[in-house]
Amino acid sequence: MLVFVTSHKGGTGRSVTAANIAYRSALSGKSTCYLDYDFGSPTAGITFQIPQAVNGVEGSGPSRGGLHRYLRGEIPSPERLDVWGSSERASLRQRPVGSGSLVLLPGQRNGSEFGFTSDIARRCAELFLRLEEEFDLTLVDLSAGRSYASHIALAATATPSLGKVTARWLVFHRWTPQHVTAAADLAFEAGGILAIGEEYGHEPERLRESLRFVRTALIDARGPEVGHLDLAQQAFLLKCDDELLELARRKGVGRTTQLGSVPLDPLLQWREQLISDHDVQTKIANVRTVDAFVELTAKLFDEIAWETA
Ligand SMILES: Nc1ncnc2c1ncn2[C@@H]1O[C@H](COP(=O)(O)OP(=O)(O)O)[C@@H](O)[C@H]1O
Ligand SMILES: [Mg+2]
Repeated sequence: MLVFVTSHKGGTGRSVTAANIAYRSALSGKSTCYLDYDFGSPTAGITFQIPQAVNGVEGSGPSRGGLHRYLRGEIPSPERLDVWGSSERASLRQRPVGSGSLVLLPGQRNGSEFGFTSDIARRCAELFLRLEEEFDLTLVDLSAGRSYASHIALAATATPSLGKVTARWLVFHRWTPQHVTAAADLAFEAGGILAIGEEYGHEPERLRESLRFVRTALIDARGPEVGHLDLAQQAFLLKCDDELLELARRKGVGRTTQLGSVPLDPLLQWREQLISDHDVQTKIANVRTVDAFVELTAKLFDEIAWETA
């Protein structure tokens, strides 16, 4: 299965959540790979804590390099990093028994955004097909907004060779008016995912059914974490939450198109990283954050979550 993660804004929590989904997928025994298609800022190596890939890989010459070089046709295949083997984090290097492979395909160091060509889309489709053969889950972290990365992904997935492959789209947003509006815009408005997908030959209804929203860094306005706030603040939060629920419903970002949500976690506010079970045991991360990642991962594979309402 191919899963594309995107957002209208930067800083939504898209990459960190996607990396944690990849991690949870691998822990559950599924072979998983993560592609850094955030071409303007290829920093996935930071979250996976892989020193040689913090801002893409250096690779040069006729055979080495990141996704940028592969897509431009400079190398026959992009570099792959085994996360279990190359993370500097000891708890990641001890690959748990029964886990699946976890592979990062990083971008190129100093790589930047580039335009769309049919050659790039063709190479992209070839790569997706190869990865689909090998991995249970291929997660592609796209540049934010109406990016060339999403054009390339939409064109590639519309090619006949990928016609039978399940492809799903997750749009990430924070729980604010600006983010809800922007997420709906990226999905449904002119120049957005559905519109561009249709231009490249996707069947509009099928594409719509394969798209869901994910709310990130959520504070439960009715939960214990707001108990310490002033009563006026608590009341204001509830009002905001109600207004947001109404806005989301109106914009098509409501309950029926939502795959799930991730609570605000103090650890993730301070650092982009995979949350291990050890982080929960030592209480530096909240168990409900991991629960949310596990649930999102399960739902990606759960056909019921993808049935139309
Ligand atoms: N659930 C969360 N709670 C708190 N902070 C989060 C959460 N998810 C992500 N963050 C933080 O928000 C920032 C932006 O996240 P990132 O994944 O880089 O966003 P994007 O890929 O959308 O630009 C990062 O510092 C990240 O650690
Ligand atoms: Mg990102």
